[in-house]
Amino acid sequence: MSPERTDTTVTRPHADSAFLRAARSEPVAHIPVWFMRQAGRSLPEYRKVRGEGTILDAIADVDRATEITLQPVRRYGVDAAILYSDIMTPAHAIGFGVDIQPGVGPVVERPFTSEADLERLRPLEADVDTPYVLETVRNLTAELDVPLIGFAGAPFTVASYLIEGRPTRTWVHTKALMHTDEPLWHRLMEALTDLAISSLRSQVDAGASAVQLFDSWVGALSPAEYDRFVAPSSSRVLAAMAELDVPRIHFGVHTGELLGRMAAAGAEVVGVDWRTPLDVARERVPTGTALQGNLDPALVAGGPTALEEAVADVIERGSDPRGGHIFNLGHGVLPETDPAVLERVVELVHAHPVREYPPASR
Ligand code: CP3
Repeated sequence: MSPERTDTTVTRPHADSAFLRAARSEPVAHIPVWFMRQAGRSLPEYRKVRGEGTILDAIADVDRATEITLQPVRRYGVDAAILYSDIMTPAHAIGFGVDIQPGVGPVVERPFTSEADLERLRPLEADVDTPYVLETVRNLTAELDVPLIGFAGAPFTVASYLIEGRPTRTWVHTKALMHTDEPLWHRLMEALTDLAISSLRSQVDAGASAVQLFDSWVGALSPAEYDRFVAPSSSRVLAAMAELDVPRIHFGVHTGELLGRMAAAGAEVVGVDWRTPLDVARERVPTGTALQGNLDPALVAGGPTALEEAVADVIERGSDPRGGHIFNLGHGVLPETDPAVLERVVELVHAHPVREYPPASR
């Protein structure tokens, strides 16, 4: 794929793929692209195999989860696969009482309110609690021609679901807990940090080639709140991944003011939503940090001309000698997306000449 350099110290599968090279801010022969929420949603072949029951049932069915992960790779020709699972899988697996309702999202029967609820957050034993996830990862690693991304929800975003009990626009209970009972907040974050570490480590041990930490809703916080209530735990998750020799992607929405902090927490790649142009984001992260993003997911409905212009604009702004670029949407694929448009996006990105190589560390 990328003939000019082979890093002999890296022995993981697909180490020389465009996706992993860009994640390490190394030169690439083409710009790699994948889509958050590429599995499921808008694909007719997904609806065919998804079946009745909740998404948590589909995730626990190894053959179905394997097939669903492969579908977007086949259809779109993306440069990476993302495991078909959910950020709530570990909390569900240890019995916290999480369901995922179609069209709603995660719903918690008995939300986290007090110290007694910490007991409901026992450590995750991935082999015993989520063996299906590990088997799916092993199947996929054997079958895929591109790297597999494993993932976890960051402690803040998972905490927000456990506390609110359902999706929220204000995070008012979450903020109330962090500001009125800071010691309890930190204990909750500690437990969720351990959960994320166990889950990510088990996915990498089973064969995942990269990890993404989804702190989707952390943009609800101010920088000062981020430093005090979030950074210590997310940094601990990412630090625990450092020894595993896989790129770490750190993503959230509405995080324009937090990008530097999210890089500093310990990530090779920072995910950027569509509100912050990548050239602006670049100024906010250290040299050598790769950026992932950031086409507006709603623009896939904007017609072919606007789409082509927007794709080219993202690439122009993302190409920089200071660090790699992985093309993606600024957030997940919207359910109403026409798959043909995403096929077109992949074509456009792959056809785009790579004019500026990120710095080779030579
Ligand atoms: O990205 C992928 O294609 C891989 C699979 C994946 C899912 N969820 C499957 C899913 C990933 C990476 C996630 C992560 C996830 N889950 C996040 C972080 C990403 C982001 O969007 O910021 C969050 C916040 C969740 C929680 C969650 N799960 C929500 C908000 C929803 C949407 C509810 C809805 O129906 O609109 C889910 C359900 C969900 N997770 C679906 C899929 C394919 C759709 C519902 C289904 O098929 O039953």
